[in-house]
Amino acid sequence: MPRLLHLDSSADLETSVSRELTRLFVDTWRGLGPGHAVVERDLHRSPLPHLPDAGLHYAPQLRTDSERPDPAAEGLQAELIGELTGADAVVIGAPMYNSSMPSTLKAWIDFVHVVGTTVPVDGSGKPLAGKPVTIVSTRGNNYAPGTASASGDFVVPPLRQVLGDSLGMSVSVVTVDLTLANRLPPLAPFAAQAAESLAAARVAVRDLAATLGS
Ligand SMILES: Cc1cc2nc3c(=O)[nH]c(=O)nc-3n(C[C@H](O)[C@H](O)[C@H](O)COP(=O)(O)O)c2cc1C
Repeated sequence: MPRLLHLDSSADLETSVSRELTRLFVDTWRGLGPGHAVVERDLHRSPLPHLPDAGLHYAPQLRTDSERPDPAAEGLQAELIGELTGADAVVIGAPMYNSSMPSTLKAWIDFVHVVGTTVPVDGSGKPLAGKPVTIVSTRGNNYAPGTASASGDFVVPPLRQVLGDSLGMSVSVVTVDLTLANRLPPLAPFAAQAAESLAAARVAVRDLAATLGS
């Protein structure tokens, strides 16, 4: 039974573009057949705590003697890693907040990126290797390649680094630029470009869900 893990982190529960697109991914996935299951984790509605103990960044055998994390936090970490390893594919809504990812999403990353567990120290046998993850990143300004702000995206590069390079997941990225074109007057001239960016993202999300779920 193909299982999708669906993560959202937008604090906007009414007009969020990333929520619209991850929902489109989920609906497309579910539409592929009755066996296509979805596990939902809304990191904004049900935020995780910040990582409470540095020892949680390391598997038990790699901790120092003084690192003894709270068993409840270890339990939560095991639950989150279990959701990730148990999924056949992952979709993550990742809006840009102050040039970086929402702190709610960063907290999830801090829990699941574990040296000696999800990232084996000898580099072999990565449990998440090849697992597809689709990052849907929305941003008010324009960060497309070649634009003046292109180097100011600190959402997608760190997610690629951690999920792709470190955990070995197979990363696809869908971005939407200029989502604030209808709100901020200086961006109003770019309304058509914004609409094009969103339309292209809808197509990309549907295609990815259909391909990855087949
Ligand atoms: C707290 C906060 C910080 C933001 N910081 C930025 C930013 O640094 N750069 C930018 O282009 N847009 C920024 N925005 C705009 C959002 O990236 C944009 O509204 C995006 O569409 C949010 O994703 P969502 O539609 O899925 O909620 C910010 C919005 C919020 C609420």
